[in-house]
Amino acid sequence: MRRIFLAGLLLATGAALAQEPVKIGVVGPFSGGAADYGKQMEAGMKAWMKIHGDTVNGRKIELLVRDTGGPNPEAAKRLSQELVTRDKVDFLAGFGFTPEAMASAPVATESKTPMIVMNAATSAVTTRSPYIARFSMTLPQVSAPMASWAAKHGISKVYTLVADYAPGVDAEKQFTKTFTEAGGTVVDSVRVPLKNPDFAPFVQRIKDSKPDAVFIFVPAGEQSIAFMKAFEERGLAREGIKVIATGDLTDDDVLQSMGDPVVGVITSHHYSAHHDSPENKAFVAAFKQVGGGLARPNFMGVGGYDGMAAIAEVVKKSGPGHIDGDKAMEILKGMKLMSPRGPISIDPATRDIVQTVYIRRVEKSGGDYYNVEFDRFPEVKDPGK
Ligand code: PHB
Repeated sequence: MRRIFLAGLLLATGAALAQEPVKIGVVGPFSGGAADYGKQMEAGMKAWMKIHGDTVNGRKIELLVRDTGGPNPEAAKRLSQELVTRDKVDFLAGFGFTPEAMASAPVATESKTPMIVMNAATSAVTTRSPYIARFSMTLPQVSAPMASWAAKHGISKVYTLVADYAPGVDAEKQFTKTFTEAGGTVVDSVRVPLKNPDFAPFVQRIKDSKPDAVFIFVPAGEQSIAFMKAFEERGLAREGIKVIATGDLTDDDVLQSMGDPVVGVITSHHYSAHHDSPENKAFVAAFKQVGGGLARPNFMGVGGYDGMAAIAEVVKKSGPGHIDGDKAMEILKGMKLMSPRGPISIDPATRDIVQTVYIRRVEKSGGDYYNVEFDRFPEVKDPGK
């Protein structure tokens, strides 16, 4: 009798354990000028749950969302630390800005918590902790195809303009390397302040040096709008100067507010809401239902979706109870997924993403603006490592 009771008790405890939620600490800006970074990543995760359900292996997925108000590396580190020690999360996720991901990396290492990067895109981010896997992109990964494409399509003199912090430096270096190796010339380069740059004087200097094109990286959002406004006001397009950029400039989230001056701009990136595939159609539709005020997913949204898909894979392949960090990383290394952006995998050597990079042109159709893909570079690894 007693033995039966004990067995029953064990079973009950097992069942209780099996039903422990999977806790994911989502760290990113959810307020301030970059609020959409956090909102996109969270909505991407929720879109995955809308399609696939919010329970994996009998365990409910619980998002613990923390706002850095950033870019704010100190806040990111403190919030990550609290999530790990007090809330005992199984995963850290999110990370819109490189400095926030870099600041949180030691927390992941010390606590052996898998850290799923959904945007932060400086090449070196994944080297900061063996517990990081990245489901977004790297700036060198998307800048090299832009340089190769430009060199092959009649652009020989380029002026580069980037935000003066690690992702901008990465973009400038890789673009210059690939473009000059392909026979092009970078006539000049400028780095603009990360916070509230006044683009007008920089744009005037670009105009005076008469390049074929200007290559841009600025973090997605307000700055791309400000740059395109200055470009339009100073009449660079009328002088025949083209804009080429990483897709951060024509981010799907702000594209609608940029208007006609952005039509024809060519960018290289890993995701467009316009991407034609059944996976993307389902994603865009689910995103609209869970995205709050967000009209459509951008590349941070798809980072959230794929990061959530990867977490679900890890949960499926792990036993019950708290996720073992080392085991999780072994599952993540070499993982292959069919993303709304196309096929992706995680390079086991670097824990960085391998993916198709698309060349796109902004087009207007029925009053809406889209990044329309017309060329592609398959299976691009980060050339920065
Ligand atoms: C980054 O800080 O790594 C970052 C932020 C915004 C972007 C791309 C990269 O659009």
